[in-house]
Amino acid sequence: MEPILKTENVWKVYRTGKVEVTALHGVSIEVMPGEFVSIMGPSGCGKSTLLHVIGGLAQATSGRVLLDGNDLTKMNDSARTLLRRHKVGFVFQRFNLLPTLDAYHNIALAQHLHDNGFDPHRFEAVAQLLGLSGRLRHKPSELSGGEQQRVALARAIISEPKIVLADEPTGNLDTKSSESVLALLRQLNKDLGQTIVMITHNPDAATYGNRVLHMRDGMVVNGTGAH
Ligand SMILES: Nc1ncnc2c1ncn2[C@@H]1O[C@H](COP(=O)(O)OP(=O)(O)OP(=O)(O)O)[C@@H](O)[C@H]1O
Ligand SMILES: [Mg+2]
Repeated sequence: MEPILKTENVWKVYRTGKVEVTALHGVSIEVMPGEFVSIMGPSGCGKSTLLHVIGGLAQATSGRVLLDGNDLTKMNDSARTLLRRHKVGFVFQRFNLLPTLDAYHNIALAQHLHDNGFDPHRFEAVAQLLGLSGRLRHKPSELSGGEQQRVALARAIISEPKIVLADEPTGNLDTKSSESVLALLRQLNKDLGQTIVMITHNPDAATYGNRVLHMRDGMVVNGTGAH
């Protein structure tokens, strides 16, 4: 089996004026289809940068990033945007829902952006799976944090992405909502075989996945991270 995601010696240097920050120091990891990988490490060690680079939100400074066989480092911004839209579902700590749209339209918009267009059966199945069926006409401000994150999760998976990338998805949630979001992620992984990479600061949250990558100073420190 081929990895769904592979990075080879990825470096990321941020340049702001004369200041350079090396956020990734040669990261080589592999994620196989169906894995649920957690990434842990201290603040500033490069976790979000790595997630942005593997999801095509940011360009690596050097090295290779292969997502489902496509080399992101050889693509321009618009090609990466298209690939991201088709293959990646992002979930963020702050939910990042559109405030003026209700839950239904926040989720449906993501599906409309996708080439396959709107699929009512898929929509219904996802809304039900995430326990959102009764909340779809509410705007984000009328939903609890846990509900908002479940809407964000629905938006992320509605177009059947190859990989879900979650950056501290429970970072803004209370214990009960966190557990519900983590249990849903685990269910998506176990029942639907959804590949997931999740950043977390919480060792308990990391146990929901099947493997933990530890990062420090821009590097993965437990081996190469290969399977
Ligand atoms: N857009 C940017 N411009 C300049 N430097 C950046 C930028 N984004 C991140 N950095 C720097 O890169 C390093 C890694 O940041 P990153 O956000 O990836 O860390 P993190 O592990 O996600 O931290 P946290 O746990 O606090 O979210 C830090 O030193 C940070 O200040
Ligand atoms: Mg971060």
